[in-house]
Amino acid sequence: MSYIDVKKVDSFDTEIEDIASDKSISHRCAIFSLLSDEPSTIINYLRAEDTLNTLNIVKLLGAEVEDDGKTLIITPPKEIKEPPVVLDCGNSGTAMRLFMGLLASKEGFFVLHGDKYLASRPMRRVADPLRKIGAKIDGRVKGNLSPIAIRGAKLEGFKYESPISSAQVKSAMILAALHASEMSYFSEPALSRDHTERMLLGMGAEVISDKNEIRIAPLTSPLKPLNIKVPADPSSGFFFAVAAAITPNSRVVLRDISLNPTRIEAYKVLQKMGAHIEFMEKENIFEPMGDIVVQYGSLKGVEVSEHIPWLIDELPALSIAMAVAEGVSRVKNASELRVKESDRITTVVENLKLCGIDAKEFDDGYEIVGGKMIENSIVNSYGDHRVAMSFAIAGLIAGVRVEDIECINTSFPNFISILEEITEVNYGD
Ligand code: S3P
Repeated sequence: MSYIDVKKVDSFDTEIEDIASDKSISHRCAIFSLLSDEPSTIINYLRAEDTLNTLNIVKLLGAEVEDDGKTLIITPPKEIKEPPVVLDCGNSGTAMRLFMGLLASKEGFFVLHGDKYLASRPMRRVADPLRKIGAKIDGRVKGNLSPIAIRGAKLEGFKYESPISSAQVKSAMILAALHASEMSYFSEPALSRDHTERMLLGMGAEVISDKNEIRIAPLTSPLKPLNIKVPADPSSGFFFAVAAAITPNSRVVLRDISLNPTRIEAYKVLQKMGAHIEFMEKENIFEPMGDIVVQYGSLKGVEVSEHIPWLIDELPALSIAMAVAEGVSRVKNASELRVKESDRITTVVENLKLCGIDAKEFDDGYEIVGGKMIENSIVNSYGDHRVAMSFAIAGLIAGVRVEDIECINTSFPNFISILEEITEVNYGD
């Protein structure tokens, strides 16, 4: 298990042009290319473990992939093939849940599995509504945990009111609805990230949304192929936004990043806390995209209890800004954090305590008493990429060792090399 030592830095001013490509959009590019009968062209597909696993699954389902290192051309099969091996989703809940929705209606037998972290994440949230419309899905612990076995079946149209706001549940149900026998209706308590609706609409599907309610018509013919440039991932960029916000006299420019409103809420919270942030839209094809400039500001504590699905992935990094900010910060209504790549309520609070910060857990969030110096300390990633990168950023103002850092490769393989442009980073085993 390797670790990194991140050294304290006085200040920095940098522009980052190679923030990892968006993970959510990349997964969808690979999976949705199977809904067309023509090749899809994808520039800047994320080459990280999670999305490369998804691409491999798409190949096992019969697609052909040409790759010149920058552009992927995915030629879909006429019919999805029954693969001779199990489909490895690695660490990715998004991959597992979206493939469940897609494969539930496909002829054949499919087994999805992943690593030990994914094996403890709930799949019932997708399996149960799919079973209600005719899907044949099973798994460990009463069909809730992976490996997940699917025998493709005929699906009925549905009216499903999801009890949780989850883009993964929504996307899985939309994929199932495209192959159901009648019109389907999906709603969620509050809008979650909306890449699936935007992309499928762009491909010609009748996926009509009004905020958190969606009507989906079954496909009558294959969709148009994708022709897309994946923007940088605002969740990955956010680590460096926090870095600039907490390091005096520092500034970062994040280039060509998605400015989708369901993805940049954490930047708005950081702005409310006192960081100086500018959003500059440059293009709007499937999604708005542009540059974000973040500059240090003296931070104040904040309460975060709204629009949680729009910043759920950024809460670990935001917790570092909360530890630095003067006063008490609180996160509420975020129990979904408990079923991410780690139980992020516990892992964030335990690591903050190791850094000498007063923090306590609630069932649905945490409280952080900010303003005290973060101490030079040793923390663990708990196998969670976002926990690893968040605490590496805390190192910029305190010096921190993060153990078990391999997980960073699931979403942001060049994270450490970008960090090395800002400060000294030493590695060890
Ligand atoms: C994702 C949706 C979110 C997010 C995850 C990626 C997606 O999960 O946390 O990292 O690409 O659909 P939920 O939809 O389960 O909240």
